[in-house]
Amino acid sequence: MKAMLIHRYGGPELFESGEIATPRPGRGEVLVRVRGSSVNPVDCGIRAGMLKSFNRLRLPAVLGVDVAGEVAELGEGATRFSPGDRVFAFTGIKLGGGYGELLVLPETYLGRVPASLNWAEAGTVPGVGATAYEAFTVHAPLKPGMRVFINGAAGGVGTYAIQIAKALGAEVTCTCSGSKAALVRKLGADHVVDYTKGDPFTSDQGTYDVVLDAVRGTSLARLRKLLRSDGVLVTINGYPWDVGLAWIRNLISPQRTVVFFVKTSGELLDGLAKMIDVGKVRPVVEHTYTWNELAEAHRRVETGRVAGKVAVVPPGMGGST
Ligand SMILES: NC(=O)c1ccc[n+]([C@@H]2O[C@H](COP(=O)([O-])OP(=O)(O)OC[C@H]3O[C@@H](n4cnc5c(N)ncnc54)[C@H](OP(=O)(O)O)[C@@H]3O)[C@@H](O)[C@H]2O)c1
Repeated sequence: MKAMLIHRYGGPELFESGEIATPRPGRGEVLVRVRGSSVNPVDCGIRAGMLKSFNRLRLPAVLGVDVAGEVAELGEGATRFSPGDRVFAFTGIKLGGGYGELLVLPETYLGRVPASLNWAEAGTVPGVGATAYEAFTVHAPLKPGMRVFINGAAGGVGTYAIQIAKALGAEVTCTCSGSKAALVRKLGADHVVDYTKGDPFTSDQGTYDVVLDAVRGTSLARLRKLLRSDGVLVTINGYPWDVGLAWIRNLISPQRTVVFFVKTSGELLDGLAKMIDVGKVRPVVEHTYTWNELAEAHRRVETGRVAGKVAVVPPGMGGST
């Protein structure tokens, strides 16, 4: 099968088209023909070797933690899907596979793609969509009327977080640069703070039920000041040691801090798909790149300025739109 490969860790220019053996599905697994993927900041980190101390790739490697595609073949005992079904998955940092023609996944990783999404859109949903959905349904379940603060609302996770929070009935305040205020308001944000115009964490301190942090490097102590005395801070940018620190802090404080890494879960994606099906959530796709533009797609994400997501599709499926 064809794939975009990296033969060593390094910059975006390293992607090369190549051939590798087609994988076969084992017990409880499904072979998926890839129709769409995306670039996440973590894909760039894996490519650059930033995660290699705990996630060493077998090279050459096929990256791409997001996948949308059709079920091509079922392994023994895989019963949830039929050949031809439209599915999507966050494959996790060890498997990747979104920049190849086919990949094998456990069927439990797969959700069903909503009928309203095209392949480019579907490929951008899993990692960031599941992250925002997991944050607001598992770690800090939102109820109507809750006040939510989203730090970093214009990117992949943030654009889902706004829509999911609104779908669950919350009042949403969020940060972004002024040029993206119109986008986040269109997605449902009630209040927008332009972080380029001064400190975004000084007003309404002590008033939020939930704060979601989607900006790497933000001080968790400063974000906690926004919380009510029993509020929850959820961060997706914690370092491994932050998990331990949060555990200790949660023993002594009525405020809760949650540091999490999104699960590879079809169930989460099916929950999110229901919100997409009823029109409460839509993917925001800034640009669609094809495989031969993969380097450009990675460079764009590395700017940290993407509005929503960049999509990546295999040859013959569109691109540069
Ligand atoms: N733990 C997990 O499971 C998990 C899952 C997904 C993502 N993540 C991590 O979460 C972070 C966000 O992911 P993502 O996919 O949403 O990234 P992204 O799409 O690359 O985020 C880009 C957005 O960040 C905004 N931004 C940058 N600096 C900002 C600041 N100081 N304040 C407010 N907004 C700012 C930019 O808006 P402006 O142009 O307006 O600045 C841009 O729209 C990344 O570090 C990623 O690795 C973790």
